[in-house]
Amino acid sequence: MNPVPLIRAARIRGRVRQLGRELAGAFAGNPGRVPAIVALLDGSFCFVADLVRAIPVPDLRLHFARAASYHGGTVSSGSVTIDALPSCVGADVLVVDDILDTGRTLAAVVAALHAGGAARVRTCVLLDKPARRVPVDGVRLRADFVGFTIPDRFVVGYGLDHDGRYRHLPDVCVLDGVAIA
Ligand code: XMP
Repeated sequence: MNPVPLIRAARIRGRVRQLGRELAGAFAGNPGRVPAIVALLDGSFCFVADLVRAIPVPDLRLHFARAASYHGGTVSSGSVTIDALPSCVGADVLVVDDILDTGRTLAAVVAALHAGGAARVRTCVLLDKPARRVPVDGVRLRADFVGFTIPDRFVVGYGLDHDGRYRHLPDVCVLDGVAIA
């Protein structure tokens, strides 16, 4: 399988800088409340590392949680497991993920944060694949902040993997030969 660049590192850098400014503006609407970012591992590790350093605010909390709906393959399993979700009672939360695909993962995390008492939950994804969205409880999830909208292809790089491989690539790449269902 041959990863073919779809979004080059320089474009990612530029968009992440813009997102950082947009997020600072969004957090400014809640003065006095320290925003809490919940980044979903493993796929968001590159994105969130760059993103938090591009948000020009004096203070924020950064937590990591793990959510999985893919289990080593390329097809969403439909069931979402969430580990290590922090307590965010009363917090203004931003969930950061690598890619919004069917929407099941983000919907499950957002619901869990609301159930845990978060005051506000917004979402930020590097990549959005709207073609594959499914309704969850009758709602097709939309992220509040999106880096890039991409076509219905399996992508790797900049943190995204195929069975643990390719996360280190600086570009987001299409993985030739991988069928998605
Ligand atoms: P859902 O379907 O719940 O999936 O929105 C979100 C999670 O699925 C993984 N995912 C991908 N991972 N290349 C990847 O490396 C892809 O094209 C892809 N599409 C979905 C990812 O972990 C994401 O958090």
